[in-house]
Amino acid sequence: MEAKLSEATRRVAPSPIQQLSHLAERVGAVNLAEGFPDFPAPAHVKAAAAAAIAADLNQYRHVQGICDVLAKAMKRDHGLDVDPLTDFAVCCGQSEAFAAATFAVIDQGDEVLLFDPAFETYQTCIELARGVPVYVPLDPPFWSLNEDKFLKSFTNRTKAVVLNSPHNPTGKVFTKEELLIIAQACQKMDCFAITDEVYEYITYDENKHISLASLPGMQDRTIITSSLSKSYSVTGWRVGWACAPANIASAIRNIHVKLTDSAPAPFQEAALVALTSTPDFYSSLKKDYTVRRDFILQMLTDFGFHISFKPQGSIFVFAELPTSWQISDMDFVTNLITNAGVAAVPGCGFFHTSTGDSSCHHRYVRFAFCKSNDTLNSAAHKMRKLAGSDAKMRPLLMDKQFR
Ligand SMILES: Cc1ncc(COP(=O)(O)O)c(C=O)c1O
Repeated sequence: MEAKLSEATRRVAPSPIQQLSHLAERVGAVNLAEGFPDFPAPAHVKAAAAAAIAADLNQYRHVQGICDVLAKAMKRDHGLDVDPLTDFAVCCGQSEAFAAATFAVIDQGDEVLLFDPAFETYQTCIELARGVPVYVPLDPPFWSLNEDKFLKSFTNRTKAVVLNSPHNPTGKVFTKEELLIIAQACQKMDCFAITDEVYEYITYDENKHISLASLPGMQDRTIITSSLSKSYSVTGWRVGWACAPANIASAIRNIHVKLTDSAPAPFQEAALVALTSTPDFYSSLKKDYTVRRDFILQMLTDFGFHISFKPQGSIFVFAELPTSWQISDMDFVTNLITNAGVAAVPGCGFFHTSTGDSSCHHRYVRFAFCKSNDTLNSAAHKMRKLAGSDAKMRPLLMDKQFR
Protein backbone atom coordinates (compact mmCIF):
# COMPACT_ATOMS: atom_id res chain seq x y z
CA MET A 1 0.00 0.00 0.00
CA GLU A 2 3.02 2.34 0.28
CA ALA A 3 2.54 3.41 -3.33
CA LYS A 4 -0.86 4.76 -2.34
CA LEU A 5 0.59 7.23 0.17
CA SER A 6 -0.18 10.82 -0.75
CA GLU A 7 2.27 12.77 -2.85
CA ALA A 8 2.65 15.32 -0.05
CA THR A 9 3.55 12.58 2.45
CA ARG A 10 6.24 11.21 0.21
CA ARG A 11 7.84 14.64 0.07
CA VAL A 12 8.07 14.76 3.88
CA ALA A 13 11.21 12.60 4.04
CA PRO A 14 13.04 12.01 7.32
CA SER A 15 15.92 14.45 7.55
CA PRO A 16 19.59 13.47 8.01
CA ILE A 17 19.20 14.99 11.45
CA GLN A 18 16.77 12.25 12.47
CA GLN A 19 19.24 9.53 11.45
CA LEU A 20 21.95 11.15 13.55
CA SER A 21 19.53 11.42 16.49
CA HIS A 22 19.24 7.63 16.43
CA LEU A 23 23.03 7.27 16.43
CA ALA A 24 23.30 9.76 19.31
CA GLU A 25 20.71 7.81 21.29
CA ARG A 26 22.44 4.50 20.63
CA VAL A 27 25.79 5.73 21.98
CA GLY A 28 24.19 7.76 24.81
CA ALA A 29 25.73 11.03 23.57
CA VAL A 30 25.36 14.29 25.50
CA ASN A 31 22.58 16.05 23.65
CA LEU A 32 23.43 19.50 22.29
CA ALA A 33 21.35 18.70 19.23
CA GLU A 34 17.74 19.32 19.98
CA GLY A 35 16.27 22.64 21.04
CA PHE A 36 14.56 21.56 24.23
CA PRO A 37 15.74 22.48 27.72
CA ASP A 38 16.85 19.64 29.99
CA PHE A 39 16.61 21.76 33.14
CA PRO A 40 13.47 22.14 35.28
CA ALA A 41 10.61 24.40 34.24
CA PRO A 42 9.86 27.35 36.57
CA ALA A 43 8.32 26.14 39.85
CA HIS A 44 5.36 28.59 39.78
CA VAL A 45 4.38 27.37 36.31
CA LYS A 46 4.64 23.67 37.22
CA ALA A 47 2.60 24.25 40.38
CA ALA A 48 -0.18 25.84 38.30
CA ALA A 49 -0.32 22.80 35.98
CA ALA A 50 -0.39 20.38 38.92
CA ALA A 51 -3.17 22.40 40.57
CA ALA A 52 -5.20 22.37 37.34
CA ILE A 53 -4.98 18.58 37.12
CA ALA A 54 -5.87 18.25 40.81
CA ALA A 55 -8.90 20.49 40.16
CA ASP A 56 -9.98 18.11 37.37
CA LEU A 57 -9.63 20.59 34.53
CA ASN A 58 -9.22 17.68 32.19
CA GLN A 59 -11.67 18.30 29.36
CA TYR A 60 -11.65 20.24 26.06
CA ARG A 61 -11.09 23.84 27.05
CA HIS A 62 -10.48 27.35 25.79
CA VAL A 63 -8.92 29.52 28.47
CA GLN A 64 -9.91 33.03 27.45
CA GLY A 65 -7.61 34.51 30.10
CA ILE A 66 -4.62 33.52 27.93
CA CYS A 67 -5.88 35.85 25.17
CA ASP A 68 -6.50 38.60 27.73
CA VAL A 69 -2.93 38.49 29.06
CA LEU A 70 -1.44 38.10 25.59
CA ALA A 71 -3.34 41.18 24.39
CA LYS A 72 -1.80 43.16 27.27
CA ALA A 73 1.66 41.80 26.40
CA MET A 74 1.19 42.80 22.72
CA LYS A 75 0.44 46.37 23.86
CA ARG A 76 3.28 46.44 26.40
CA ASP A 77 5.96 44.85 24.20
CA HIS A 78 5.01 46.03 20.71
CA GLY A 79 2.47 48.85 21.08
CA LEU A 80 -0.15 46.72 19.30
CA ASP A 81 -3.86 47.09 20.02
CA VAL A 82 -5.42 43.66 19.67
CA ASP A 83 -8.85 42.42 20.70
CA PRO A 84 -8.52 39.47 23.09
CA LEU A 85 -12.00 38.24 22.15
CA THR A 86 -11.46 38.02 18.40
CA ASP A 87 -7.77 38.21 17.47
CA PHE A 88 -6.31 34.97 18.91
CA ALA A 89 -6.34 31.25 18.32
CA VAL A 90 -4.86 29.25 21.21
CA CYS A 91 -3.24 26.20 19.62
CA CYS A 92 -1.04 23.18 20.39
CA GLY A 93 2.28 25.01 20.28
CA GLN A 94 3.62 27.38 17.66
CA SER A 95 3.77 24.34 15.37
CA GLU A 96 0.02 23.93 15.18
CA ALA A 97 -0.54 27.70 15.10
CA PHE A 98 1.77 27.93 12.09
CA ALA A 99 0.15 24.97 10.34
CA ALA A 100 -3.35 26.38 10.90
CA ALA A 101 -2.21 29.83 9.72
CA THR A 102 -0.75 28.30 6.57
CA PHE A 103 -3.90 26.33 5.83
CA ALA A 104 -5.92 29.50 6.43
CA VAL A 105 -4.13 31.64 3.84
CA ILE A 106 -2.31 29.43 1.31
CA ASP A 107 -3.97 28.02 -1.81
CA GLN A 108 -2.54 25.61 -4.35
CA GLY A 109 0.31 27.26 -6.26
CA ASP A 110 0.69 30.23 -3.93
CA GLU A 111 4.35 31.09 -3.38
CA VAL A 112 5.64 31.65 0.13
CA LEU A 113 8.99 33.35 0.73
CA LEU A 114 11.21 31.91 3.45
CA PHE A 115 14.68 32.93 4.54
CA ASP A 116 17.39 30.32 4.12
CA PRO A 117 18.64 28.70 6.33
CA ALA A 118 15.27 27.95 7.95
CA PHE A 119 13.67 25.92 10.71
CA GLU A 120 12.40 22.73 9.12
CA THR A 121 8.68 22.67 9.78
CA TYR A 122 7.60 25.66 7.68
CA GLN A 123 8.24 23.98 4.34
CA THR A 124 6.19 20.91 5.24
CA CYS A 125 3.17 23.02 6.26
CA ILE A 126 3.39 25.09 3.08
CA GLU A 127 3.64 21.96 0.93
CA LEU A 128 0.75 20.26 2.73
CA ALA A 129 -1.28 23.38 1.86
CA ARG A 130 -0.10 22.86 -1.79
CA GLY A 131 1.83 26.10 -1.68
CA VAL A 132 5.31 26.58 -3.14
CA PRO A 133 8.18 27.46 -0.78
CA VAL A 134 10.60 29.98 -2.33
CA TYR A 135 13.83 30.42 -0.39
CA VAL A 136 15.72 33.70 -0.12
CA PRO A 137 19.29 33.08 1.07
CA LEU A 138 20.56 35.17 3.97
CA ASP A 139 24.19 36.24 3.54
CA PRO A 140 26.75 34.58 5.85
CA PRO A 141 28.58 35.12 8.12
CA PHE A 142 26.15 37.60 9.71
CA TRP A 143 23.08 36.20 7.93
CA SER A 144 22.16 39.65 6.63
CA LEU A 145 19.09 40.23 4.53
CA ASN A 146 20.14 40.91 0.96
CA GLU A 147 17.53 43.41 -0.21
CA ASP A 148 18.17 42.79 -3.86
CA LYS A 149 17.80 38.99 -3.64
CA PHE A 150 14.74 39.40 -1.45
CA LEU A 151 12.91 41.83 -3.72
CA LYS A 152 13.72 39.75 -6.80
CA SER A 153 12.10 36.69 -5.19
CA PHE A 154 8.60 38.18 -5.32
CA THR A 155 6.28 37.29 -8.17
CA ASN A 156 2.61 37.95 -8.72
CA ARG A 157 1.97 34.55 -7.06
CA THR A 158 3.69 35.47 -3.79
CA LYS A 159 1.09 35.16 -1.06
CA ALA A 160 3.12 35.38 2.14
CA VAL A 161 6.54 35.93 3.68
CA VAL A 162 7.60 33.82 6.67
CA LEU A 163 9.82 35.54 9.21
CA ASN A 164 11.43 33.81 12.18
CA SER A 165 13.23 36.24 14.50
CA PRO A 166 15.09 35.55 16.76
CA HIS A 167 16.15 32.96 14.25
CA ASN A 168 16.70 29.22 14.36
CA PRO A 169 19.35 27.99 13.44
CA THR A 170 21.58 31.10 13.22
CA GLY A 171 20.71 33.05 16.37
CA LYS A 172 20.18 36.17 14.26
CA VAL A 173 17.80 38.91 15.39
CA PHE A 174 16.52 40.83 12.36
CA THR A 175 17.30 44.55 12.59
CA LYS A 176 14.75 47.35 12.33
CA GLU A 177 16.19 48.27 8.92
CA GLU A 178 15.74 44.71 7.65
CA LEU A 179 12.21 44.55 9.04
CA LEU A 180 11.36 47.82 7.28
CA ILE A 181 12.48 46.33 3.96
CA ILE A 182 10.31 43.26 4.58
CA ALA A 183 7.35 45.39 5.69
CA GLN A 184 7.53 47.68 2.67
CA ALA A 185 7.75 44.76 0.26
CA CYS A 186 4.80 42.97 1.89
CA GLN A 187 2.70 46.10 1.49
CA LYS A 188 3.82 46.83 -2.05
CA MET A 189 3.16 43.22 -3.14
CA ASP A 190 0.01 42.93 -0.99
CA CYS A 191 1.23 39.83 0.88
CA PHE A 192 0.71 38.32 4.29
CA ALA A 193 3.55 38.00 6.77
CA ILE A 194 3.56 34.97 9.06
CA THR A 195 5.98 35.41 11.94
CA ASP A 196 7.47 32.86 14.31
CA GLU A 197 8.44 34.63 17.52
CA VAL A 198 9.03 31.70 19.89
CA TYR A 199 12.37 33.18 21.01
CA GLU A 200 10.88 36.65 21.62
CA TYR A 201 12.16 36.82 25.21
CA ILE A 202 15.56 35.26 24.56
CA THR A 203 17.82 37.97 23.16
CA TYR A 204 21.37 38.96 24.10
CA ASP A 205 23.45 42.08 24.60
CA GLU A 206 21.86 45.14 23.01
CA ASN A 207 19.69 43.12 20.62
CA LYS A 208 15.96 43.62 20.95
CA HIS A 209 13.16 41.64 19.39
CA ILE A 210 10.85 43.78 17.27
CA SER A 211 7.63 42.24 16.02
CA LEU A 212 7.13 42.81 12.28
CA ALA A 213 3.45 43.48 13.05
CA SER A 214 4.44 46.63 14.95
CA LEU A 215 5.84 48.34 11.83
CA PRO A 216 3.59 50.85 10.08
CA GLY A 217 0.96 49.20 7.88
CA MET A 218 1.80 45.65 8.99
CA GLN A 219 -0.70 44.73 11.68
CA ASP A 220 -3.50 44.22 9.11
CA ARG A 221 -1.48 41.66 7.18
CA THR A 222 0.61 39.89 9.84
CA ILE A 223 -0.10 36.62 11.59
CA ILE A 224 2.06 36.35 14.70
CA THR A 225 2.73 32.85 16.01
CA SER A 226 4.47 31.99 19.25
CA SER A 227 4.25 29.70 22.25
CA LEU A 228 5.11 28.89 25.84
CA SER A 229 7.66 26.29 24.77
CA LYS A 230 10.93 28.19 24.92
CA SER A 231 10.26 31.12 27.25
CA TYR A 232 9.03 28.83 30.03
CA SER A 233 11.02 25.66 29.21
CA VAL A 234 7.91 23.55 28.56
CA THR A 235 8.25 22.32 24.99
CA GLY A 236 6.19 19.20 25.79
CA TRP A 237 3.16 21.10 27.06
CA ARG A 238 2.04 22.14 23.60
CA VAL A 239 0.52 25.55 24.21
CA GLY A 240 0.95 28.26 21.59
CA TRP A 241 -1.06 30.85 19.74
CA ALA A 242 -1.67 32.80 16.58
CA CYS A 243 -2.57 36.48 16.76
CA ALA A 244 -4.04 38.15 13.68
CA PRO A 245 -6.78 40.55 12.57
CA ALA A 246 -10.21 39.19 13.59
CA ASN A 247 -11.29 37.65 10.27
CA ILE A 248 -7.94 35.85 9.80
CA ALA A 249 -7.81 34.72 13.44
CA SER A 250 -11.32 33.35 13.06
CA ALA A 251 -10.25 31.26 10.03
CA ILE A 252 -7.22 29.97 11.98
CA ARG A 253 -9.44 29.10 14.97
CA ASN A 254 -11.82 27.14 12.73
CA ILE A 255 -8.94 25.07 11.37
CA HIS A 256 -7.44 24.61 14.84
CA VAL A 257 -10.76 23.29 16.19
CA LYS A 258 -10.97 20.77 13.34
CA LEU A 259 -7.36 19.69 13.80
CA THR A 260 -7.00 19.34 17.56
CA ASP A 261 -10.03 21.04 19.14
CA SER A 262 -8.06 22.60 21.95
CA ALA A 263 -4.64 22.84 23.51
CA PRO A 264 -4.10 20.68 26.65
CA ALA A 265 -6.49 21.99 29.31
CA PRO A 266 -4.28 21.91 32.44
CA PHE A 267 -1.38 23.46 30.57
CA GLN A 268 -3.58 26.28 29.33
CA GLU A 269 -4.32 27.03 32.99
CA ALA A 270 -0.60 27.00 33.68
CA ALA A 271 -0.05 29.27 30.67
CA LEU A 272 -2.13 31.89 32.36
CA VAL A 273 0.28 31.85 35.30
CA ALA A 274 3.40 31.68 33.08
CA LEU A 275 2.31 34.63 30.97
CA THR A 276 1.81 36.80 34.05
CA SER A 277 5.35 36.16 35.34
CA THR A 278 7.08 39.19 36.85
CA PRO A 279 9.58 41.29 34.85
CA ASP A 280 12.29 39.68 37.02
CA PHE A 281 11.49 36.33 35.46
CA TYR A 282 12.28 37.63 31.97
CA SER A 283 15.46 39.39 33.04
CA SER A 284 16.69 36.19 34.77
CA LEU A 285 15.83 34.20 31.66
CA LYS A 286 18.06 36.47 29.57
CA LYS A 287 20.82 36.47 32.17
CA ASP A 288 20.83 32.67 32.51
CA TYR A 289 20.83 32.15 28.78
CA THR A 290 23.63 34.70 28.32
CA VAL A 291 25.79 32.64 30.71
CA ARG A 292 24.95 29.44 28.81
CA ARG A 293 25.67 31.10 25.46
CA ASP A 294 29.03 32.43 26.64
CA PHE A 295 29.94 29.03 28.09
CA ILE A 296 29.28 27.22 24.84
CA LEU A 297 31.08 29.88 22.79
CA GLN A 298 34.14 29.37 24.99
CA MET A 299 33.83 25.60 24.71
CA LEU A 300 33.70 25.77 20.92
CA THR A 301 36.55 28.28 20.74
CA ASP A 302 38.70 26.03 22.94
CA PHE A 303 37.90 23.16 20.58
CA GLY A 304 39.19 25.14 17.61
CA PHE A 305 36.14 26.88 16.14
CA HIS A 306 36.47 30.56 15.17
CA ILE A 307 33.05 31.97 15.95
CA SER A 308 32.50 35.03 13.77
CA PHE A 309 28.81 35.46 14.59
CA LYS A 310 27.75 35.34 18.23
CA PRO A 311 24.07 34.47 18.71
CA GLN A 312 21.99 37.64 19.16
CA GLY A 313 18.96 35.65 20.29
CA SER A 314 17.50 32.10 20.47
CA ILE A 315 19.21 29.10 22.06
CA PHE A 316 21.58 28.04 19.28
CA VAL A 317 25.11 28.68 18.05
CA PHE A 318 25.49 28.08 14.31
CA ALA A 319 29.21 27.44 14.19
CA GLU A 320 31.18 27.45 10.95
CA LEU A 321 33.71 24.66 10.51
CA PRO A 322 37.16 26.29 10.09
CA THR A 323 38.38 26.03 6.47
CA SER A 324 41.39 24.00 7.60
CA TRP A 325 39.05 21.21 8.76
CA GLN A 326 38.54 19.28 5.56
CA ILE A 327 35.32 17.65 6.60
CA SER A 328 31.63 18.08 5.88
CA ASP A 329 29.08 18.95 8.55
CA MET A 330 27.53 15.45 8.39
CA ASP A 331 30.87 13.69 8.84
CA PHE A 332 31.94 16.10 11.58
CA VAL A 333 28.78 15.47 13.59
CA THR A 334 28.90 11.71 13.00
CA ASN A 335 32.49 11.68 14.26
CA LEU A 336 31.71 14.01 17.17
CA ILE A 337 28.96 11.65 18.33
CA THR A 338 31.12 8.56 17.89
CA ASN A 339 34.46 9.86 19.19
CA ALA A 340 33.43 12.44 21.79
CA GLY A 341 29.92 11.30 22.72
CA VAL A 342 28.49 14.76 22.01
CA ALA A 343 25.58 15.30 19.63
CA ALA A 344 25.02 18.43 17.53
CA VAL A 345 23.08 19.03 14.30
CA PRO A 346 24.65 19.26 10.83
CA GLY A 347 23.72 22.59 9.25
CA CYS A 348 22.78 21.09 5.88
CA GLY A 349 19.31 20.19 7.15
CA PHE A 350 18.45 23.90 7.45
CA PHE A 351 19.56 24.97 3.97
CA HIS A 352 17.31 24.69 0.94
CA THR A 353 18.36 27.03 -1.85
CA SER A 354 19.60 25.11 -4.85
CA THR A 355 20.47 28.17 -6.91
CA GLY A 356 23.28 30.62 -6.17
CA ASP A 357 26.12 30.00 -3.76
CA SER A 358 25.56 26.81 -1.81
CA SER A 359 29.18 26.44 -0.70
CA CYS A 360 28.25 27.10 2.93
CA HIS A 361 25.57 24.40 3.11
CA HIS A 362 27.92 21.74 4.47
CA ARG A 363 30.10 24.06 6.55
CA TYR A 364 27.92 24.74 9.63
CA VAL A 365 27.01 22.82 12.76
CA ARG A 366 24.23 23.85 15.16
CA PHE A 367 24.79 23.49 18.90
CA ALA A 368 21.84 23.99 21.30
CA PHE A 369 22.74 25.52 24.66
CA CYS A 370 19.32 25.29 26.36
CA LYS A 371 20.94 22.72 28.63
CA SER A 372 21.67 22.27 32.33
CA ASN A 373 25.06 23.11 33.78
CA ASP A 374 25.71 19.38 34.17
CA THR A 375 25.01 18.74 30.50
CA LEU A 376 27.12 21.69 29.35
CA ASN A 377 29.99 20.76 31.66
CA SER A 378 29.87 17.15 30.53
CA ALA A 379 29.92 18.21 26.85
CA ALA A 380 32.85 20.56 27.52
CA HIS A 381 34.73 17.81 29.36
CA LYS A 382 34.21 15.33 26.54
CA MET A 383 35.22 17.82 23.87
CA ARG A 384 38.29 18.87 25.83
CA LYS A 385 39.29 15.24 26.21
CA LEU A 386 38.91 14.69 22.49
CA ALA A 387 40.82 17.85 21.60
CA GLY A 388 43.67 16.63 23.81
CA SER A 389 43.77 13.23 22.15
CA ASP A 390 45.60 13.60 18.89
CA ALA A 391 44.84 10.07 17.72
CA LYS A 392 41.09 10.59 17.96
CA MET A 393 41.05 14.26 17.01
CA ARG A 394 42.78 13.91 13.67
CA PRO A 395 40.19 11.63 12.09
CA LEU A 396 37.49 13.88 13.50
CA LEU A 397 38.66 16.86 11.53
CA MET A 398 39.85 15.20 8.33
CA ASP A 399 37.76 12.32 7.26
CA LYS A 400 36.16 10.79 4.21
CA GLN A 401 35.51 12.88 1.16
CA PHE A 402 35.14 16.62 1.66
CA ARG A 403 31.72 17.51 0.26
C1 LIG B 1 11.98 28.63 15.42
C2 LIG B 1 11.10 27.62 16.09
N1 LIG B 1 9.78 27.74 15.96
C3 LIG B 1 8.94 26.85 16.56
C4 LIG B 1 9.41 25.79 17.30
C5 LIG B 1 8.44 24.84 17.91
O1 LIG B 1 7.59 25.54 18.78
P1 LIG B 1 6.42 24.80 19.56
O2 LIG B 1 7.02 23.89 20.57
O3 LIG B 1 5.68 25.92 20.21
O4 LIG B 1 5.60 24.08 18.58
C6 LIG B 1 10.81 25.63 17.45
C7 LIG B 1 11.34 24.48 18.20
O5 LIG B 1 12.49 24.18 18.18
C8 LIG B 1 11.66 26.58 16.83
O6 LIG B 1 12.98 26.49 16.95
